[in-house]
Amino acid sequence: MASTSSIEGVNERLSAAHLVSARSSSIDASGIRKIFELGAKLRDPINLSIGQPDFPVPLEIKKAAIHAIESDHNGYSLTMGAPAVQEVVWNHLSKDVGWTRAMGQGAMLTSGTSGALVLAALALLEAGDEVVFPDPYFILYPQLGRLTGAVGVACDTYPDFRMTAVRLEKVMTPRTKMVILVSPSNPCGVVLSSKEIAEVVELCRARKVLLISDEIYDEFTFSDAREDGRCPSAARMSRDVLLVRGLGKTYGCTGWRMGYCAGPEWLIQEMAKLQQYSYVCAPTPFQHATAAALATDMSGIVDGYERRRDLVLEAFKGVTEVARPGGAFYAFVKVPEQLNETAKDFVSRAVDRNVLVIPGSVFSARDTHFRLSFAAPEQKLRAGLSILREMMQPG
Ligand SMILES: Cc1ncc(COP(=O)(O)O)c(C=O)c1O
Repeated sequence: MASTSSIEGVNERLSAAHLVSARSSSIDASGIRKIFELGAKLRDPINLSIGQPDFPVPLEIKKAAIHAIESDHNGYSLTMGAPAVQEVVWNHLSKDVGWTRAMGQGAMLTSGTSGALVLAALALLEAGDEVVFPDPYFILYPQLGRLTGAVGVACDTYPDFRMTAVRLEKVMTPRTKMVILVSPSNPCGVVLSSKEIAEVVELCRARKVLLISDEIYDEFTFSDAREDGRCPSAARMSRDVLLVRGLGKTYGCTGWRMGYCAGPEWLIQEMAKLQQYSYVCAPTPFQHATAAALATDMSGIVDGYERRRDLVLEAFKGVTEVARPGGAFYAFVKVPEQLNETAKDFVSRAVDRNVLVIPGSVFSARDTHFRLSFAAPEQKLRAGLSILREMMQPG
């Protein structure tokens, strides 16, 4: 018998077809991967496809993380988060949305905002349940259904990209268990007013459905979309909301994987059980940078992004439709109908001119728009906008 004790001796490989779960096979990552592949081929592209900020982490926040590592905060923390950091988050929550532990609320530090979303889906969804999210959507949302056997239901929000209660009600059924609201939104940057949010909160309350408010871009809300100086939040209207937020986008530290969630205590306890057996805890040294992060004023940077937003709106004025982004760093731009092409075709023409944007089909059932990220140096942004505008002109 041939020896199989060395790697060379093993010629029968395990096969994906035999072993990979239907759940995993059902997930198609090709759309976004194609863009990365295209980007890798271009030399010094004008890259307007990136979903993360283009500024470095503010020095004080970096120092806090370095200090935490040097002070030996490198082991596991409690599942909910290091107690001192939990206090920081509670202080922030009580000031910002008025929630306290005494109200029956809970809070937990998570591995990014994604960590919180996945744990919420695992804690609540089962086969046959429905989870509703806006279309265009953040690419994780449909996968939350696939991961849990639930059905993802996209709520069409074209052409203004506002998931209003009227639109939401049309797609809700007795099987709806969860609704995801995102404001400011990815990929559109649209910010809902507190009136619009209150109507969604009321609809979910009446139907006994859990509302998740994804507020990862909350600090990135521009002056014309702020109310009372801040981003409108569902958490200020109801305690029966799961609030998810993160540090990554606001402070430019997406790789630190720091997020937090807060909501009804019973739900946070369920999610904590699942975190204990999966992510274990949020990355400990970076938890300890949370206080420094929340104390850092990012308004100068947000103002700079607002000016870039204005450049984007100006560039496409009179050429095509763009729903005004009230926050985040994205615009969802319509490919003019008279061009008679899909967004994929338009994007591939843009790539030929060294400009990288993402076709709407990556985020939507439709392929009529593209996502442009203005988290790019101003000179590059201006150059990219002028090429895209030129591509939209007839002839
Ligand atoms: C709307 C939205 N929610 C959640 C996330 C995930 O963020 P994190 O990096 O904190 O997991 C993103 C990231 O792009 C996002 O755009």
